[in-house]
Amino acid sequence: MMEAKSFQLFPEQASTIAAHVDGLYAFLVLVSAFFSLLIAFLVVWFAVKYRQRPDSPAVPAHADDHSAGAMVLEIVWTVIPLGLSMIMFAWGVSIYFTESRPPADSMEIYVTGKQWMWKIQHMEGAREINELHIPIDRDIKLTMTSEDVIHDFYVPAFRTKADVLPGRYTTEWFKPTKVGEYHIFCAEYCGTKHSGMIGTVYVMSQNDYNEWLAHGSGEGSMAEQGQALFNQLGCGNCHPSVINNQNGRCPNLVGLFGTRVELKDGTNVRADESYIRESVLYPESKIVAGYDNIMPTFKGLISEEGMLKLVEYIKSLRTKNGTMSTATPLPVQTGATPQTPTKAGAMKTAARPAGAVPAPAAPQGTR
Ligand code: CUA
Repeated sequence: MMEAKSFQLFPEQASTIAAHVDGLYAFLVLVSAFFSLLIAFLVVWFAVKYRQRPDSPAVPAHADDHSAGAMVLEIVWTVIPLGLSMIMFAWGVSIYFTESRPPADSMEIYVTGKQWMWKIQHMEGAREINELHIPIDRDIKLTMTSEDVIHDFYVPAFRTKADVLPGRYTTEWFKPTKVGEYHIFCAEYCGTKHSGMIGTVYVMSQNDYNEWLAHGSGEGSMAEQGQALFNQLGCGNCHPSVINNQNGRCPNLVGLFGTRVELKDGTNVRADESYIRESVLYPESKIVAGYDNIMPTFKGLISEEGMLKLVEYIKSLRTKNGTMSTATPLPVQTGATPQTPTKAGAMKTAARPAGAVPAPAAPQGTR
């Protein structure tokens, strides 16, 4: 597709938020146009009406007349613009909040930006470059990072975009409402071929999407690929992530994702994508309470895409639907989150005193 269309003032509205963004935009344009025209008209009209005449006095007769009428006028031209700008503010904030908070059950897709292409990974394992295939009428959440400089993932038809930054994860979400093909642009100048950093979103019916997914890579799901990487890098030698690995030197990763982790310095942090990434690349920066700073950095050993797979693997350890479906939840040894709603019974852990190194052989959770 993408054939030349007849002139269009706006891109197609192809997401649930698009009409709201266009509505606000139209309001801003109309208010601006109204006042621009009003002021231009008054400038001309007053210039004519109050022009210098041969018999005009040097000072107008009522120049210092602070009448009640003038007071009313001042109040009116203060209150009306204040009201209008407050409408713009509230309307804009409401759209911003909607766009920045992905619904909890969103379908997750990972995006890695790189000079000058978009690399996309689906949870089920399919990968694509400069193309994004998604089903219609589903909330789609993109978790994005960059391998080099700042990019920005922009789909005009969805009226949403977000910066894609090196060294951290940003998100963007939308719910496509129309089957079709739409432009992806990079909306942040990122070097010579910035203008060529483009792609296409294919919004498909659920059936077509399932069929497309079925033709995906034979490398397994992202979590499975992450697990392979986890083993290949030797992470499992220390981090107990399976039921029979009760090595106590390093925090257990089962049930970790999404919980709060107590740190050695007394603070705590939510175990999200960024925390996991940081812990792999800069393990010394956040030490879990009760453990020593013994982990080597894996900086330079993992690509950003590999990191996303690892993250997805660690996420999968949290749910019974993940790759650890057969594992019963372990008592968490990190001292994190005594009350995790999903595994209430098994999570009875007392946080260890900071600095206490557990004996490797001590059977945990049997107290
Ligand atoms: Cu990437 Cu501009």
